[in-house]
Amino acid sequence: MSEPDYVAENRALWTTSNARYTDEQADRAWRAEEITWGMFGNPETEVGVLGDLTGLDVVELGCGTAYFSAWLARRGARPVGVDVTPAQLDTARRLQAETGIAFPLIESNAEDVPLPDASFDLALSEYGASIWCDPYLWIPEAHRLLRPGGRLVFLRSSPLVILCAVEEPDSTSEQLQRPQRGMHRLEWSDGSVEFQLAHGDMFRLLRDTGFEVEALIELFAPDDAVTHEYYSHVTADWARKWPAEEIWAARKPA
Ligand SMILES: C[S@@+](CC[C@H](N)C(=O)[O-])C[C@H]1O[C@@H](n2cnc3c(N)ncnc32)[C@H](O)[C@@H]1O
Repeated sequence: MSEPDYVAENRALWTTSNARYTDEQADRAWRAEEITWGMFGNPETEVGVLGDLTGLDVVELGCGTAYFSAWLARRGARPVGVDVTPAQLDTARRLQAETGIAFPLIESNAEDVPLPDASFDLALSEYGASIWCDPYLWIPEAHRLLRPGGRLVFLRSSPLVILCAVEEPDSTSEQLQRPQRGMHRLEWSDGSVEFQLAHGDMFRLLRDTGFEVEALIELFAPDDAVTHEYYSHVTADWARKWPAEEIWAARKPA
């Protein structure tokens, strides 16, 4: 499959972002003891979406610097990281060498992955394919990669955050900024292309692809959370009042 137009734009954005992401930030993420979700660090011990990871074959779609895969490897899973940006994978390789946590890393568009059908128990995305890939392509691809009984778990921005997003200055309003109807491909002024479906469309896509939807977990910022140092467009104050992020869990029937 030839690469869709937005893949090169997003690779360029993530090459620049990688250059801004310091070694210290990357090290801190890899070495974190706890699995946490999203900008405000909601702990997996409270979210409880992953379950026992021991012995699971996991594919992380849009793994970036692959800290989430490293967290899963430390809990007994066998991750494979897939990402389209070489600079992000270089950072992941450096941290693999430094920490001794090794797993395969594959440079590929997560909408068309060079891995066999039915080879994973868990397909995961934390702000990777879940926002940078077209859902009508990457969700069927995740389904193809999963074994019967396997699970898809992904974190993305909430539709509400996207509806309220302001570009200048980069922030999140308390007023709606754009229509929800027809929401799918979003082209931002920095040239990046992001994807977002509203809840009804995402639910329908998962069902039409053959998944059973298990959960939609809306994340709020914890009471003591502070605004993220890098992802500061949503303040902790906003995210205590409205869900800024959400986790979907779905299963490919056995
Ligand atoms: C916010 S990072 C998410 C990964 C990881 N959780 C992190 O924060 O480092 C987004 C990643 O998605 C990747 N990405 C964007 N488009 C992609 C595509 N079409 N296929 C695979 N990865 C893609 C980017 O290269 C980037 O590394």
